[in-house]
Amino acid sequence: MEKPLKKIRWGIIGLGNIAHKFAQDLMTVEGCELYAVASRSQEKADSFASEYNVPKTYSSYEALANDAQVDAVYIATPHSLHKENTILCLEKGIAVLCEKPFAMNLEQVTEMIAVAKAQNVLLMEALWTYFLPHYQYVLKTLENKTYGNFLKMEADFGFYREFDDTKRLFKKSLGGGSLLDIGIYPIFAALSILGIPNNIEARATFFDNGADSSCNMTFHYDNQVKAYLKSTLLEETPTEAIIHCEKGTIKLQSRFHEPTSITIESEKGKETLNFKSDTFGYNYEIAHFNQLIRDGKTESDIMTFEFSELLIKTLDDVRMKIGLEYN
Ligand SMILES: NC(=O)c1ccc[n+]([C@@H]2O[C@H](COP(=O)([O-])OP(=O)(O)OC[C@H]3O[C@@H](n4cnc5c(N)ncnc54)[C@H](OP(=O)(O)O)[C@@H]3O)[C@@H](O)[C@H]2O)c1
Repeated sequence: MEKPLKKIRWGIIGLGNIAHKFAQDLMTVEGCELYAVASRSQEKADSFASEYNVPKTYSSYEALANDAQVDAVYIATPHSLHKENTILCLEKGIAVLCEKPFAMNLEQVTEMIAVAKAQNVLLMEALWTYFLPHYQYVLKTLENKTYGNFLKMEADFGFYREFDDTKRLFKKSLGGGSLLDIGIYPIFAALSILGIPNNIEARATFFDNGADSSCNMTFHYDNQVKAYLKSTLLEETPTEAIIHCEKGTIKLQSRFHEPTSITIESEKGKETLNFKSDTFGYNYEIAHFNQLIRDGKTESDIMTFEFSELLIKTLDDVRMKIGLEYN
C-alpha cells in the first residue's frame, strides 16, 4: 500500500483581503493544511485563525518564520514589503509563494532570486492566472497556431474606487496605483502570449499623491503586431483579453485573469468554452506549488524566475516611460 503523503504545512503572512480568499482555496487542495498565520496584530491573527481553523497564530512575521514546522509561506503583504518578507522566510529555509508584483523593481526581484538560489529553497511569484485551466488552454491553442499568426491583442483591467490615501491600493509608500496592482495582468497576458515587445509606448494619469490612476500601453511586435493594454482605478472596464489571429479571435471573457469562459470565433463559427470554478482559482497555483515541494524543486517550470524577471523589468520600463517613481 502507498504511504500517505505528508501534509504540507502552510503559513500566511499579512492577513488582509487576499489572505482570506487564499485560505479558503487552500482548504480545497489535498495534501496540505493552513497551519499558521501571522499578523502585526495578535487579535487579527486569532480572529483569522478561528475563521479557518488554523492551529498556530503569531503576532509578528518573524515569529512565524521561526516556526520550524512551517513548510511553505504565502506572502500577502503590500508590494513594498514583498522583498523583505520573502527573504525573511527564505533565510529560514521556508519555501515562499509571494504575491504579485514579486517586488517593487527588478533589483529587488534579482536579490530575492539570489537568496532563494543561495539557500536552495523554492521561490515563486503568485501569478495565479498562469495556472488557471482556461489560460493554459488558450496558451496551448495559440502555441499550436490553430488560428494562424497574431494580428493584435487587447487586454484591460479596470474598476472604480474612491481615492483614499490611507488604503494600500492608493498609498504610494506601499506601491499603490493601478499599474503595479492590476496593470500587471494585461502586461502578463501580452508577455505570456506574444512574448517580449520590441518597443513600448505608455501614458498615464495620476492621483494627487503621485500614484498612477490609469495607464495605457501599446506593446509593439514584429510584423506590425500590437498589444493594446490598459489599467485604471477610475472606471469599470470590461476586464477582458482578446487575441486576434489571421483565422480566428479568442476572447477571454470578463474577468479574464480569473476562472472564466472563453469564446472562439473562426470560420467554423462561434464556440464558448466554460472554465468557471467553484473556487476563486488560487487552488491551481497552490497545487502546483505543493507538487514542486514534493518533487524537491526550487523553481517553477511555469512561473519561472526568467518570466518573473521579464515581468518586473517590463513594469520598470513602463514606469520609466510614464515617470512613476517609488522611493
Ligand atoms: N492574486 C490576487 O488575486 C491578488 C488580489 C489582491 C491582492 N493581491 C496582492 O496581494 C498583496 C496584498 O493585497 P491585499 O489586497 O490583500 O491588501 P490588504 O487587504 O491591504 O492586506 C495587506 C496586509 O498586509 C499587512 N501589512 C503589513 N504591513 C502593512 C502596512 N504597512 N500597511 C498595510 N498593510 C500592511 C496587513 O496584514 P496584518 O495587519 O495582518 O499584518 C494587511 O492586512 C498585494 O501585493 C496585492 O498586489 C493579489
